[in-house]
Amino acid sequence: MKLLIKNGLIVQPGATKRANVLIVNGRIAEVGSLSDAAGATVIDATNLQLFPGGIDPHVHLHLPTSAGFSADDFESGSRAALAGGTTSFIDFVTPRRGQSLTEALDLRLAEASNCYCDYSFHISPVDWRATLPAEINECIARGFPSFKIYMAYLQTIGIEEDVMMPIMSTIAKAGGMMAVHCEMGKEVDDLRRSYISQGHTSPYYHPLSRPAYTESEAVKALINLVAITNCPVYIVHVSTADALKHISRAQRSGMPVYAETCPHYLLFSDKQYEGDFDQTAPYVMSPPLRKESDIEALWEAIADHTIQAVGTDHCPFHLHQKQEGINDFTLIPNGVGGIEERMKLLYHLGVNSGRISHERFVELCSTAAAQIFGLRSKGNIVAGADADLILWDSQRKETISAANNHSRCDHSIYEGVEVLGGPNMVIKAGKIVMKADAINETTEGKCLFRKSGQ
Ligand code: URP
Ligand code: ZN
Repeated sequence: MKLLIKNGLIVQPGATKRANVLIVNGRIAEVGSLSDAAGATVIDATNLQLFPGGIDPHVHLHLPTSAGFSADDFESGSRAALAGGTTSFIDFVTPRRGQSLTEALDLRLAEASNCYCDYSFHISPVDWRATLPAEINECIARGFPSFKIYMAYLQTIGIEEDVMMPIMSTIAKAGGMMAVHCEMGKEVDDLRRSYISQGHTSPYYHPLSRPAYTESEAVKALINLVAITNCPVYIVHVSTADALKHISRAQRSGMPVYAETCPHYLLFSDKQYEGDFDQTAPYVMSPPLRKESDIEALWEAIADHTIQAVGTDHCPFHLHQKQEGINDFTLIPNGVGGIEERMKLLYHLGVNSGRISHERFVELCSTAAAQIFGLRSKGNIVAGADADLILWDSQRKETISAANNHSRCDHSIYEGVEVLGGPNMVIKAGKIVMKADAINETTEGKCLFRKSGQ
């Protein structure tokens, strides 16, 4: 099957040009002035930009919590992803303590069978045991070379610093990569308990129980462990200026430290926690929203490459689930959505405002994640790559609303936000998977087996 995309402005790091793209059997066959496009279906992309399909490296679909599963499963979450231009994402395998990584991986693979996007998983060691090195090696051999640990949530999936060391050494020796949720778990737990015991139960106390230093001190501790183990780390959802200082220093000294932030940290401040429960509980995520000065520092870090990627941490919960914490903010399930809005928001807030170039936008939304996480056939519009493309309309206007997005969640934290620029058409594996906001129901995602990106 042949598809010819004519006259689009191809945007990718270091190589923006107007050219035709020929797709044959799901892959990009040629980019340029084409020799043999006979028999191809032609799509005219004049006035549109062509970006590689978005890659979201941080997604939690169908996440179990005490308030029930998160609002999006693989079906609805991937539908929302495609609508926003994201054709691939990396979710998580989170075993029960004591359960082997590979058993949990097999169960998670079955849960993802109705996914419209291409997908992979970061695998989370949640405890240490003698067999863990063999399990880590088996995950890598099966095509899952990235892992994630949580320094927060010590009661459930988090791990203590003394356990991080052997895990990081094992992953470093095996050639893997470790994503890390950096918050000082014990400090946060103590603060949460203290606020609740004083009767401070509203979401206003959520950011106060997870102050900026609990993130930056965790980042500092992690970087000390990187210095000892040489394990490459990808620090997820960085939210503070202080954390960025540690990250930048480590990067400048040549350490393998990568950083991600999320759209919500680039748009909202902790003012969102002022108001009544129904207004504020939707913004309960961890780490929490920060100060205006942190927002500015994040944009600077995006521009100067301290931050490599923008992921979503997509994990929305319905309002009735958030209501579980009406009398105790610590019972509000943590997480917000954004998989559909990520690229539109970054384009509008970043490119339209002049903070980042089109090429940097593509790096942040696609190319960097492909490189860091070993998605070698993705993130670029070159011959041989998977034909995952967005035909982007820089003049497309939208007011974001839960009423017309594709997530199953009953609300959006971005309700009413106006954006200029968005996908006109999305192509995955050479097939049109989204056109004029309608998802092609015959789309099938595939599991991406990866080799280490390093
Ligand atoms: O609040 C958040 N981030 N929820 C999702 C789970 C996690 O911590 O990554
Ligand atoms: Zn997350």
